[in-house]
Amino acid sequence: MSNDITLVLGATGNTGRRVAARLRLRGTHLRTASRSSQTAFDWFRPADWDQVLRNVTTVYVVPPTVPGPVHDFVARAEVAGVRHLVLLSGHGADDWGDSEFGLDMRSAEEAVRGSALDWTVLRPANFAQNFDGPPFHGPLAAGELALPAGTVPEPFIDLEDVADVAAAVLTEPGRHAGRIYELTGPHALTWAEAAELISRASGLPIAYRQISPAEYTAALVQEGWSEHEAHVLAEMFVLLERGALASTSDDVATVLGRAPRTFEDYVLRSVAAGAWRRQ
Ligand SMILES: NC(=O)c1ccc[n+]([C@@H]2O[C@H](COP(=O)([O-])OP(=O)(O)OC[C@H]3O[C@@H](n4cnc5c(N)ncnc54)[C@H](OP(=O)(O)O)[C@@H]3O)[C@@H](O)[C@H]2O)c1
Repeated sequence: MSNDITLVLGATGNTGRRVAARLRLRGTHLRTASRSSQTAFDWFRPADWDQVLRNVTTVYVVPPTVPGPVHDFVARAEVAGVRHLVLLSGHGADDWGDSEFGLDMRSAEEAVRGSALDWTVLRPANFAQNFDGPPFHGPLAAGELALPAGTVPEPFIDLEDVADVAAAVLTEPGRHAGRIYELTGPHALTWAEAAELISRASGLPIAYRQISPAEYTAALVQEGWSEHEAHVLAEMFVLLERGALASTSDDVATVLGRAPRTFEDYVLRSVAAGAWRRQ
């Protein structure tokens, strides 16, 4: 085993915990970090970063919601001797215009892509697993998914594929330097079709209802989301409706040599694991 340490940020989150498990299996010398991890890392406590970066050669970066600190972190990583950064961004980051989503994603990407280090950017579409966690699990289990999603399909990506790609990129130095990977599932489906598949496989009656972005924002606020979070999520649907992000990409196969998992496969695994039980 090499002494080089791979640092996984966001290590308790959706992608970070899956990436860390894969690297452990491969025997990678690993440091997992977040505010609640054994190695404490906080994007807003830069005084601790040098310690976290000690002897690290490769970093999986899950950026904070407001990406300002990523710029300082990259500079510190360069000084610490890091060689390769792998950034989690979002599908079609160039196509989000001046939305908050777009500006934040591009700012984090600029920090990484502008560095002197090798870098790789992962741009996943919406995660399939959003349907069995926030923000969609509650509405599905209650029998109605009401979204301002329209008829533009989304190429949902399985989180297990995002993690497979990240683990490959983190452990194959050189091969992925300077690459941007758009990570999508093998086909796109509308949000109504996704709800329909979950309904059929789970046996739960689930209706899809089309609502306006303003109605969706109000509904999220009523559920306890902040005005700002609700606005950003509703805005995402408005931007998806433009259609620029509906296409699929071959990048999962480019990295892994196999097709990405289907949404149906995700639904079957999740039903077997007990998601979407009648409440
Ligand atoms: N959801 C989607 O469909 C989707 C699709 C494409 C891209 N993305 C992108 O995915 C990213 C989120 O990644 P994820 O889903 O893997 O993570 P996540 O499940 O949202 O978890 C966030 C992680 O970051 C850590 N964290 C939160 N605040 C922190 C702070 N101040 N300092 C240090 N660590 C902090 C959390 O751990 P602690 O609480 O222990 O600190 C946790 O490990 C976002 O940038 C999003 O834009 C999401």
